[in-house]
Amino acid sequence: MNKVAEWSRHYRSRANQALDQRLPAADLHPGDLHQAMRYAVLGGGKRIRPVLVYSAGAAVGAMLEALDGPACAVEFIHAYSLIHDDLPAMDNDELRHGRPTCHRAFGEALAILAGDALQALAFQVLSQDPAMISDSVIRMRMLGLLAQAAGSRGLVGGQAIDLAAVGRDDLTLAELENMHIHKTGALIRASVLLGAFSRPEVESTVLERLDRYAKCIGLAFQIRDDILDVVGDTATLGKTQGADRALNKPTYPALLGLDGAREHARALHQEALASLGPLGSEADPLRWLATYIVERVY
Ligand code: IPE
Ligand code: IPE
Ligand code: MG
Ligand code: MG
Ligand code: MG
Repeated sequence: MNKVAEWSRHYRSRANQALDQRLPAADLHPGDLHQAMRYAVLGGGKRIRPVLVYSAGAAVGAMLEALDGPACAVEFIHAYSLIHDDLPAMDNDELRHGRPTCHRAFGEALAILAGDALQALAFQVLSQDPAMISDSVIRMRMLGLLAQAAGSRGLVGGQAIDLAAVGRDDLTLAELENMHIHKTGALIRASVLLGAFSRPEVESTVLERLDRYAKCIGLAFQIRDDILDVVGDTATLGKTQGADRALNKPTYPALLGLDGAREHARALHQEALASLGPLGSEADPLRWLATYIVERVY
């Protein structure tokens, strides 16, 4: 394993530990709710968003301890979004991380509440984590950034666009891109920026570079997710392969074909690397992640 992949593994295990520490204990009242929250967060997942927080933080020289809070906050939002995404009213999925989805394991009502509580926990952690950057103006900016990425002009808005687009065969590429940018790109962008904000006084040109990088990989990430729904297998994915087609979801392979979708992801990968431009080896974890995102098999 190369050195950068080794860092990424280290960041992932650091994130797992930080998440575990910040989740309410399973026996804390109401236990069934806390068990559902822990099941959804700790049951699996690649931790791409926390690893992006750590990697963007490393690229600007932020302290590792200052990144644990933002890393957990983005993963709590992500985990909540998957619980709700899998519900019968949305994608109606039964399998996630190779196990029954949260609502299958705990019932719909508790799954909805576990998602709600994880979203609140994300903001609690981001506002209170003691090792985070102490400048209150930056802290408020970070909270606003995550709220925007999670809300109706970000992830939740993207999910609404997704639901409204089901079954439409006249969707344009621009509309599909808009949907992906919101439902997936917004939180990935926030992950990179929260990492970068964790060090005060980062040059605005560096922030702009990271922002451009984040937008490219955010879109590429969802294109790869769409491709994997076609070419992946259920055992490796840990979620049901072919679910998009079964639900008649608008996806990149549906609109551009598999080769067209792959080409689009490749172009975004190149653009992401070019955006990092002159940044030195401190940005290598970000470079490695851009490649991982378009080549991953689950
Ligand atoms: C899946 O995200 C949902 C999308 C936004 C495409 P991930 O592929 O990051 O999910 P886990 O956490 O690794 O399972
Ligand atoms: C989910 O997209 C995006 C969010 C949860 C915000 P998908 O519906 O494609 O994710 P999977 O394929 O179920 O993981
Ligand atoms: Mg969905
Ligand atoms: Mg889904
Ligand atoms: Mg998908």
